[in-house]
Amino acid sequence: MTAAKDLTWLCRQLKAPSLLAGVDRLGARAREENWTHEEFLAACLDREVSARSAHGGQARIRAARFPAYKTLEDFDFDHQRSARRDVIAHLGALDFIEERSNVVFLGPPGTGKTHLSIALGIRACAAGHRVAFATAAEWVARLSAAHDTGRLHDELRRLGRIPLLVIDEVGYVPLEAEAANLFFQLVSARYERASVIMSSNKAFGRWGETFGDDTVAAAMIDRLVHHAEVVVLKGDSYRLRGRDLGKVPDASA
Ligand SMILES: Nc1ncnc2c1ncn2[C@@H]1O[C@H](COP(=O)(O)OP(=O)(O)OP(=O)(O)O)[C@@H](O)[C@H]1O
Ligand SMILES: [Mg+2]
Repeated sequence: MTAAKDLTWLCRQLKAPSLLAGVDRLGARAREENWTHEEFLAACLDREVSARSAHGGQARIRAARFPAYKTLEDFDFDHQRSARRDVIAHLGALDFIEERSNVVFLGPPGTGKTHLSIALGIRACAAGHRVAFATAAEWVARLSAAHDTGRLHDELRRLGRIPLLVIDEVGYVPLEAEAANLFFQLVSARYERASVIMSSNKAFGRWGETFGDDTVAAAMIDRLVHHAEVVVLKGDSYRLRGRDLGKVPDASA
């Protein structure tokens, strides 16, 4: 009785509610299975640590503002044959974040660029990294608001503390000269300091059209790709699968 009261108080002091919730059951199992004291202690701590990291992962996923929930496990490599399973699995191990290098997905609509970007981002959240997701147009809007109020430098520094930024849909909307310049500053500020995952429907050779200037585009691609895995996706849109032969989709599709 006293021990139970002590535990309640101690777990509250430690802010360890999962440990408190699990300790009775773990104690019973420990007695049944003759655990050592060390095994019991490890099981208790493990329970709290797992609860905290799962909770932290969810919080980071919410904070990242992904537009959907996608995982690497849901990705159909038989449909998308140009994405090599081993390359994507290696990216999923997240060494690129430790190395502060980048990932670039290039390919036509519906080939899985956003799916893979989100899936890697979610992996990163679960592994304890902060992530922020937005489209190129949204990043530019954010930087331009900071610029207009004289906070650009602070904003870039703040973003620099986030180890992974996802910049989706580069190339769909052409950028004005000032927007292109802000975008360049974002990439340049992160170069060799923190990672970026970028997706585009345009091959690098056509980025000049988006940025309105071949020199700015070239300087940005240079920094982006110096340390990067570039994954080129090909083929038909997954969104239109089953319709490409003009057949009526079957009921199970
Ligand atoms: N190989 C795949 N396996 C499973 N789902 C896929 C695959 N490729 C794409 N999808 C799904 O198809 C839809 C479109 O994919 P996604 O949004 O990643 O395309 P995208 O390359 O970003 O296209 P866009 O350039 O139009 O933005 C999503 O719902 C995604 O989950
Ligand atoms: Mg997309």
